[in-house]
Amino acid sequence: MGVPGMKPVTIRTLNDMKREQRRFVCATAYDASFARIAVDAGIETILVGDSLGMVLQGHDSTIPVTVADMAYHIRCVARAASSALVIGDMPFMSYATQKDLLGNATTLMQAGAHVVKLEGGQWLAPGVAQLSERGIPACGHIGLTPQSVNSFGGFLVQGRGPEDAKRILEDALALEAAGAVLLVIECVPRELAAEITARLAIPVIGIGAGPATDAQVLVMHDLLGMNPRPPRFVRDFLVTGGSIQGAFAAYAQAVRDGSFPQPEHGFD
Ligand code: KIV
Repeated sequence: MGVPGMKPVTIRTLNDMKREQRRFVCATAYDASFARIAVDAGIETILVGDSLGMVLQGHDSTIPVTVADMAYHIRCVARAASSALVIGDMPFMSYATQKDLLGNATTLMQAGAHVVKLEGGQWLAPGVAQLSERGIPACGHIGLTPQSVNSFGGFLVQGRGPEDAKRILEDALALEAAGAVLLVIECVPRELAAEITARLAIPVIGIGAGPATDAQVLVMHDLLGMNPRPPRFVRDFLVTGGSIQGAFAAYAQAVRDGSFPQPEHGFD
């Protein structure tokens, strides 16, 4: 169905929105029903996140998620996403070698993703360049990258010290230079996210990164108040929205009018 008259959202649409300083909205969805609700709420981008390992499969991290899992859920979402841009997560270790990267990105694109998302900084730049050269748009994901939870020692805010902040900024610049079309930045101090957003020409999507990014993303179970231990960057939009459809619409509206996120949703 979708919003009547809404043109398909492409990377060009999102670039134009960044240039015109109009925020866009991203929510995760993992099946056709919720993808349709997100599209009907006017949400421009749907992330089929490997967070499905936690919110659908019940694991305590995203590490057990496979390429087959991702392809299945991307196919479900793509059937209903109509005008929205579908971003598909490449799961843990599915891009560790060049052969895996190209083969698995192909699988996700053939399942219906328009863009693939990969977690990592400067080391990932050659991989992003290879995807880009072959016509596969890549979205970087830096800051708190959940697939590295065991290296971080927990789901912890990143980029707080000057050296860490400098490294994350350099990660962002390297990924853009390599051809990334979008960047997700997760759980970093607001000021760092603001600087990265200002320095990059490509759209930056924040989560737990303050209000200055070009877009926001939330896991749909979080925005629907279904997380028994919600992280501080989450708001329960079911309370104001009154229904699932209303919650997605309230979230989209709050991102667009700048009323979400508030200072208490971010980190210093
Ligand atoms: O997997 C996911 O849902 C994500 C978001 C938290 C950005 O990567």
